[in-house]
Amino acid sequence: MDRSAPSPRELLEIAVNVARDAAATAHRMRAEGVSVAATKSTATDVVTAADRAVERQVLDALGRLRPGDAVLGEEYGEGDTGPADPDGVRWIVDPIDGTVNYLYGLPNSAVSLAAEVAGEVVAGVVRNINTGEEWTATLGGGAYRDGVPLRCSTETDLGQALVATGFGYDAKRRLHQARVVTGLIAQVRDIRRFGAAAIDLCLAAEGRVDAYYEKGLNAWDLAAGGLVATEAGLRVAGLAGRAAGPDLVVAAPPALFGPLHDLLAELDAAGGP
Ligand code: IPD
Ligand code: CA
Repeated sequence: MDRSAPSPRELLEIAVNVARDAAATAHRMRAEGVSVAATKSTATDVVTAADRAVERQVLDALGRLRPGDAVLGEEYGEGDTGPADPDGVRWIVDPIDGTVNYLYGLPNSAVSLAAEVAGEVVAGVVRNINTGEEWTATLGGGAYRDGVPLRCSTETDLGQALVATGFGYDAKRRLHQARVVTGLIAQVRDIRRFGAAAIDLCLAAEGRVDAYYEKGLNAWDLAAGGLVATEAGLRVAGLAGRAAGPDLVVAAPPALFGPLHDLLAELDAAGGP
């Protein structure tokens, strides 16, 4: 195999096939019944048998299709692949984003799979486990839902904006995030909390919400959905010129980014525990 330069399109094709099989497994396991297998950072940060089985399936599939690539996953970290070659391909997988929704049988949960080349995300897919909606993007190649090209909202007035956000699993962090929402909610049309960051980013890409922000995202929550959002025209960044990351992710159409950014900075959205 020529390992030097897989194109974003080639990587996306692999990602889509692997994510579809993974979502099918998650869907089947949900139908068979699901329970908490363990907890992670807090008592409400749960992992189900499906999270683990789906990530294992993705690792096995990528190992077959792209032997030697690095992988970072939510449940198994770097797995057996070890640290990434800085110039090589690294896959970033969240086997189930929206695990709590999945556990409760709520519709927003997704498999998220992205491919990085030399540290930059170049391809990504987010597939809703329940509805089969599938969002894809390649770097410079646009964003799509089920093959239809996406553009973000054209809203320019923050007061009219429907803004999605999420909350972490740690109680102290959630309290700080709730205070930020208290400062924000009267300045925007309304707030939505859907429970799956990757889907939130894709909904913003479609203009089904105008913007999204959240503190505390991990690489696997952000990688694929962040590319979908960027390719749909959203500006995706942190505060004060920093890249989007664990401190804060703000995803907003260009006209809304400045006002939302400034309000979030004033409310110390990247601060707190
Ligand atoms: C969580 C979801 C949730 C977000 C949390 C994430 P998980 O991911 O994306 O919407 O608010 O920050 O940790 O645990 O369901 O994979
Ligand atoms: Ca997850």
